[in-house]
Amino acid sequence: MVGRVNSTVKGASLRLGVIGTGYLGAVHAACMADLGHEVIGLDTDQERVNSLNRGVAPIYEPGLDDLLKKTLATGRLRFTSDVVETAKGADIHFICVGTPQKEGSNAADLTYVWSAVEHLSPHLSDGALVVGKSTVPVGTAEEVAKRVAQLSPPGTNVEVAWNPEFLREGFAIADTVSPDRLVIGVRSTEAEKRLREVYRVILEKGTPMVVTDFATAELVKVAANAFLATKISFINAMAEICEVTGANVTELANAIGQDPRIGSRFLRAGIGFGGGCLPKDIRAFMARAEELGLAESLAFLTEVDAINQRRRDTATKYVTDMLENRVEGSVVAVLGAAFKPDSDDVRDSPALFVADKLRARGATVRVHDPRAQHNAKRNYPQLEYPPSVEETVVGADIVLHMTEWAEYRNLNPTEISKLVRHKRIFDGRNELDLKQWQSAGWATKSLGRPQ
Ligand code: UGA
Repeated sequence: MVGRVNSTVKGASLRLGVIGTGYLGAVHAACMADLGHEVIGLDTDQERVNSLNRGVAPIYEPGLDDLLKKTLATGRLRFTSDVVETAKGADIHFICVGTPQKEGSNAADLTYVWSAVEHLSPHLSDGALVVGKSTVPVGTAEEVAKRVAQLSPPGTNVEVAWNPEFLREGFAIADTVSPDRLVIGVRSTEAEKRLREVYRVILEKGTPMVVTDFATAELVKVAANAFLATKISFINAMAEICEVTGANVTELANAIGQDPRIGSRFLRAGIGFGGGCLPKDIRAFMARAEELGLAESLAFLTEVDAINQRRRDTATKYVTDMLENRVEGSVVAVLGAAFKPDSDDVRDSPALFVADKLRARGATVRVHDPRAQHNAKRNYPQLEYPPSVEETVVGADIVLHMTEWAEYRNLNPTEISKLVRHKRIFDGRNELDLKQWQSAGWATKSLGRPQ
């Protein structure tokens, strides 16, 4: 039976399955239930399923626990580890599993996509629609359609569509319910019609929908992430030039960003991009281009990646310079572990990369993060994790600002002065008011700004 529809329901209720309840899946499931659909989320991790059924997300995302609790209470949302229950309980299935970087290669690891397809397909009902949301190499959707057709029960008519996701960690709910655009790759008007019904409430707000083929839909996602990564590496390359010429990259970004053809967003220079998406997506894109005999077309992404990695080395060098080459035996206080603020994700975190480099050179490294400390500790147990900023900076020879959490921006340099051994601060994110720190007697350094 279709779940109870209360006054907050804004759309017609469809029965949706969400396969994989990590970042993408947990958010998608909760948001779709909030739009009024009946949603069943599937995950192989029983502990995660239990936790989600209690309204506790596997990751920190602002507002997500509240949204889970709210939608679970309506009866429209539930989570299970039973694939048959999922296949029977929904008509439209969203594949939201991860596609991490393959061990020892640039390519994407599609193990979870194939596993989802293989487990789900034999139980699909006639008329089911399987919709891929995971970020995949171009050509995957076509292959998924073939495998679904082979594996679904004989006589059933099952279709596939591709619907990439553009949500940002930290803004995942807003990006899902109020996206800039929706993109769907479909092979029939029926599939388009059904996806328009899924997203009816969002479309009624005037959100544009791009209706295209499989390959274009897959490429839109990786092209968007490649463009964003390129924009960040572009401004970081400018930072390298600014560092040698005495120019100011923040002012430069502000000036060029005012040209609407360029735009000011994603022009923040610093220690570069990390996370579970941009780094692995540009590498997987290059690997796919190589397979297609088109390595040259994306050769520039090698440089985008190299500029990004170089920022981490430059940060390490600047900190070493500030410590007058006495890294061994020094106490380094690192503010921020997550790859960006409002997230507890430490995957490919530039902050932790630099922190661990300094530890390897003999420093005692203490790391603070408002949300990511537990994940950081699991991945880098060799670093220290005091519970407060004060305990992190006490006796420090240098303070590193590595993730731009709002609470770090508001630190009072005069108060912090009383705790540290040496008043030195490195701003890896170009977000601190360095004049204020200098007035309190601090030596400062940042990336791409005159010192
Ligand atoms: C990114 C894309 O922005 C989303 O559109 C996409 O859906 C998502 O990947 C995905 O593929 O799932 P996300 O990884 O959450 O989202 O993070 P971003 O906000 O893109 O930031 C990525 C990294 O770039 C962070 O480390 C951030 O600190 C850094 N960054 C961002 C900069 O160094 N400078 C900037 O100007 C902007």
